[in-house]
Amino acid sequence: MNYTEKYRPQFHYTPEKNWMNDPNGMAYYEGEYHLFYQYTPFSNQPNFEKMHWGHAVSSDLVHWEELPPALSPGEDGAIFSGSAVVDKQNTSGFFDEEGSGLVAIYTNNGNTATPDKPQVQSIAYSKDKGRTWTKYLGNPVLFPDTTLDFRDPKVFWHVETSKWIMSLAVNDRVEFYTSPNLKEWMFASDFGEDVIGTHRGIYECPDLFSMDVDGDPNKKKWVLILSVGDCNGVNPNDPEPPAGGSGMMYFVGTFDGRTFTPDKPIHSIHDLKWIDFGSDFYAAVTWDNTTEIDGRRLWIGWMNNWRYADLLPTNKWRGSTSIPRELKLKTYQEGIRLVQEPVEELSGIRSPLATLENVTITPDTNPLTDITVDKAELIADFEIGTATEFGFKVRTSADEETIIGYNIAMKKLFVDRTNSGKTDFHPDFAAKHEAPLEPDDNRVRLLIYVDWSTIEVFGGDGTAVISDTIFPTPGSDGLNLYTVGGNVKLVSLQINELQSIWLPNDKVKENIHAHQDRLV
Ligand code: FRU
Repeated sequence: MNYTEKYRPQFHYTPEKNWMNDPNGMAYYEGEYHLFYQYTPFSNQPNFEKMHWGHAVSSDLVHWEELPPALSPGEDGAIFSGSAVVDKQNTSGFFDEEGSGLVAIYTNNGNTATPDKPQVQSIAYSKDKGRTWTKYLGNPVLFPDTTLDFRDPKVFWHVETSKWIMSLAVNDRVEFYTSPNLKEWMFASDFGEDVIGTHRGIYECPDLFSMDVDGDPNKKKWVLILSVGDCNGVNPNDPEPPAGGSGMMYFVGTFDGRTFTPDKPIHSIHDLKWIDFGSDFYAAVTWDNTTEIDGRRLWIGWMNNWRYADLLPTNKWRGSTSIPRELKLKTYQEGIRLVQEPVEELSGIRSPLATLENVTITPDTNPLTDITVDKAELIADFEIGTATEFGFKVRTSADEETIIGYNIAMKKLFVDRTNSGKTDFHPDFAAKHEAPLEPDDNRVRLLIYVDWSTIEVFGGDGTAVISDTIFPTPGSDGLNLYTVGGNVKLVSLQINELQSIWLPNDKVKENIHAHQDRLV
């Protein structure tokens, strides 16, 4: 495999060709991480009448093998977003007495059998590790009374009530359903209709899961994730996500098997909690069956924004995933927050380039002049000094730069992609995106991932995350440290080049074995 086309991400999954959007049906099963995704196999534009589930597998979350599309549309309509679960106890009856298998739960869009109900939920099962799928003859398993927007089922096994729970996006709310067998679903409750400030776009791709707070198994909370579209909501005056267009928010609360109750009512838009402050992180949902294996709650998002999704300046393929991330709940002064960290497996593709320690950075000096890199991991710890702003400029050349900076007075982390390269395909693309970030004991920690067309910045513990696409010219590979108005102390910096994940097969196997050895 030789994925070296202009802008092709080197350590993010992209399909070899054509359109992708939301990640779907992620599940860990018998040594493989599955990634399905919204896929139009014959065009680099989305076709909502012909959407498939594309498919890739990985044994380390880093190197991916693309497989043929898993689910294709037919009389039942297009295959929209949804989830997959490992049916360990054969509750569905699809598998042998002692066996288990994968069940996909997805939306059919435009089912010809139900013309007055264009979006219904269906299921399919696989007995061969996701390679082939059989659609259930009793489909659809759930259909709406009235609404047009009734989609994106995300299902998990609720141990306390021994039931499957489905979270479903229903225009301006999330509906929860329960089932003993994945085939029969009962309405339980809904959430969101009256939640202030969340209705500029319609709700999409919900996810509900529990997590330990501060790593303490005796302190559990439930998290409800929501993607909110760019338009068609019931209140167009509600706020846009921080970077505009489509975006993601979350709520922390309790769930009793039927009802989700947020800990804090949303009295105003200032109570909303955004997941990512960049423009390009959407429709992220979590993997099924990873917490059972190693305790981690993992997810991946689509690095794009419905505002300009179909205009991205690539041709062969269009759309990319984010890097996989681990989620945690941590307590801060202001309450419990969801934090994101890159998965540790990414350390397997590091090639160390340079380290610096205890260097004072002054305006007009750049200690990194000798370094060029176009796909990298930067791990930096700064101590605030007299500067008003400091940070990195990445993917630079005479005409291009993407700035990743921290504004001390405003206490804001930012990514400025105004001059990042090709930006003219949409008027909103060239912009600066900001995330609030409190210094920790006068220190600012940044973890940055730069690829051929993506930037992901994790500030602090992963409370301030900015994910943005960029389209720099291939030779723009300079790297700068900068300050404005005074000095900053660089306590430590590691620069790692990241290897392409699209290596020849033998090299991939070597890396995966090295990873598995580390886990033993
Ligand atoms: C979110 C979304 C989902 C839908 C899918 C269609 O990006 O609009 O609500 O199922 O994309 O591809």
